[in-house]
Amino acid sequence: VKISVVGATGYVGAEVVRWLSSHDVQIAPISTTRAGDRLSDAVPGLLGIADQVIQPFSEAAKADAVVLATPHGAAAGLVPELGSVPLVVDCSADHRHADGWVYGMAEWNAEAVASASRIAVPGCFATAIALALAPLAAAGLLVDPVQVAAATGSTGSGATAKNATHHPARFANFKAYKVLDHQHVPEIVAFLGGLGGCGPLHFVPHSLPLDRGIFATCFARVDSDVNAATLYADAYAGAGHVRIRQGTPELRWVRGTAFCDLSVHRDGDQLVVLSAIDNLGKGAAGQAVQCLQLALNLPTLTRISPCTP
Ligand SMILES: NC(=O)c1ccc[n+]([C@@H]2O[C@H](COP(=O)([O-])OP(=O)(O)OC[C@H]3O[C@@H](n4cnc5c(N)ncnc54)[C@H](OP(=O)(O)O)[C@@H]3O)[C@@H](O)[C@H]2O)c1
Repeated sequence: VKISVVGATGYVGAEVVRWLSSHDVQIAPISTTRAGDRLSDAVPGLLGIADQVIQPFSEAAKADAVVLATPHGAAAGLVPELGSVPLVVDCSADHRHADGWVYGMAEWNAEAVASASRIAVPGCFATAIALALAPLAAAGLLVDPVQVAAATGSTGSGATAKNATHHPARFANFKAYKVLDHQHVPEIVAFLGGLGGCGPLHFVPHSLPLDRGIFATCFARVDSDVNAATLYADAYAGAGHVRIRQGTPELRWVRGTAFCDLSVHRDGDQLVVLSAIDNLGKGAAGQAVQCLQLALNLPTLTRISPCTP
C-alpha cells in the first residue's frame, strides 16, 4: 500500500509519517516547499525513520491513500485533484460533517470508517471532549447544559509561530482564549447529537505552557441513580485506545500515544469527566492512523506507548 502524506513537514504530517513507519506500507511525503529534500532533513527527528525524498503535490494522486495534514482551507482546494485516489483522510476541519465524508471518531464510527473512501479526522479539542461525553450522549443522558474547560499545548497551533501562541506568550503563562466561541463546539455538538442528543455546550479553551497535550474537564448533570462507572466501562469495553482510570488522567501518560485516558467522578447528580490526550497523537495523527488501519485493514500498532512512566 502506498500512502502519500501531504504536509509531511508539518507537526501533524510528520507524526503521521512516524506512526506509519511502524507499518508495512510505502510512505510518500509531499510538500509544497521542500520537494527534492529528504524528509529527515526537513524533520530532523525522523532521521533513520523516514529518509524518503519529498515529492511535489502532483505525485500525491498516484497513491492508494492520501493523508492531508494541511492548514484549514487548503485541503478543500486539494481534494478535487485527488478524485481517483481510493482513500483520502483529511486532518483539517475542511470536511468534518461534510456530505460524502465519514467523521473519523474511530471508537464510535469504526464500521463506517472501515468502509469509507473519504474520512475527516476530528479536531483535537473535539476528540478529547467528545470521547468524554459520548457515553452520556449515546445513553440519551446529555440533556442539560454541559460545561467544559480544556487546556491545550502549543503544538496545537501548528509549526508557524503566531503572536498569541508562540513561546513567549505561553511559557510560564496560563490563559483562556476564544471563551464560549471555539470553532470545535459545533463539531462536538453535531457528533454527540448524532449519537443520541446533546444539550447546550459551554466551552472555555485554555493555553498550556507545554508543547503537547490536551486536558479537558467536563461537567454534566445526570440523575443520581445512573451508574456512570458501568456506563463508561461498557461504552469503552474493547476500545483499546480509550482507557478508564480510577484516579485522574495525566498528560505524561498519553504523550506520544493514541490513547485517550478518562476518569469519571460524581457528587449526587453532578458528574465530572476528565479526559487527557496528546493533541498530535489521539487528537490528530494517531487518530488518522487509526482510521487508516480500519480502512486499509492494517494491524493495530498505535497502541505501542512511548509514554513517561
Ligand atoms: N497541531 C495539532 O495539534 C492539530 C490537531 C488536530 C488537527 N490539526 C489540523 O491538522 C492540520 C495540520 O496541522 P499542523 O499543526 O501540522 O500544521 P503545520 O505544522 O502548520 O503544518 C502544515 C503543513 O501543511 C503544508 N502546507 C501549508 N500550506 C499548504 C497548501 N496550501 N497546500 C498544501 N500544503 C500546505 C506545509 O508544508 P509545506 O510548506 O512543506 O508544503 C506545512 O508543513 C491543520 O488543518 C490543523 O488544524 C492539527
